[in-house]
Amino acid sequence: MRIFLDTASIDEIRQAVKLGVISGVTTNPSLVAKEKRADMKAVIQEIASIIDGPISAEVLSLETDALIEEAREVSSWSPNVVVKVPVSVSGLEAISVLSREGIRTNLTLCFSLNQALLGTIAGATYVSPFVGRLDDIGHDGMQLVAEIVELFENYNITTTQVIAASIRHPLHVITAAKVGAHIATIPYNVLTLMIKHPLTDIGISHFAEDWQRIQKS
Ligand code: G3P
Repeated sequence: MRIFLDTASIDEIRQAVKLGVISGVTTNPSLVAKEKRADMKAVIQEIASIIDGPISAEVLSLETDALIEEAREVSSWSPNVVVKVPVSVSGLEAISVLSREGIRTNLTLCFSLNQALLGTIAGATYVSPFVGRLDDIGHDGMQLVAEIVELFENYNITTTQVIAASIRHPLHVITAAKVGAHIATIPYNVLTLMIKHPLTDIGISHFAEDWQRIQKS
C-alpha cells in the first residue's frame, strides 16, 4: 500500500517527504482554507515543486460544463495534478469526458459501493471512500474500502485505484492495508503516530545508558 499525505500544509509536506515514505498528496478546499491561503493554484504548484507524485486538487463547480472547464484549468497547473471531483450526476459526466481527454480524476466524497462502481465505469483514476466520516455516523467505513477492493478484484479492474481517505488514526492505516487498499491518504499527525512506539523509545534510551556506562568503567 502506498501512502499519500492528506494536507495542504507546505511545512508538513516538506517534513514528510524527507522520510521517503510519501508518494503523493491529497488536498481539499477545507484543507487549503485551513492554511489561510485563498489561491489554490499557488498552493498546488508549490506542492508540485516539493513532491513528484500525484497531487489531488478539488474542483468546486457544480454544473457539468463549468465543472469540466474548471477541471481542465486545474489539470493545467502541473502534470502531477489529479482532479478531485465529488460524486454527483455532473461529476460523473465530467469524469467520463475528462478521462477521454487523458485527465486523471479522483472521485471524492465516496460513501457507497455503487458510487465507487459508477466512478470506475466513468473512468476515474482513483476513488476515495471517506472512512472516518462513515465511522462518525455509526457505519463501518473500512468495510466500504474492503467491498470496493473486492469489487475491483472480482472484475480485474486495474484502471482505478482505491484511496482510503478520511483516515483518523494509525489503526485505520493498518486496516486499510489489510483489506488491500492501494493507497491510504493520511494526515501528518497520523504519520507521526505510526512512527512512535513506547518500546522503541525505551529501547533507545536503554542502549544509550548501557553504552555510556561501559565508556565510564
Ligand atoms: O481525504 C479526505 C479527507 O481530507 C477528509 O478527512 O477528516 O475531514 O473527514 P476528514
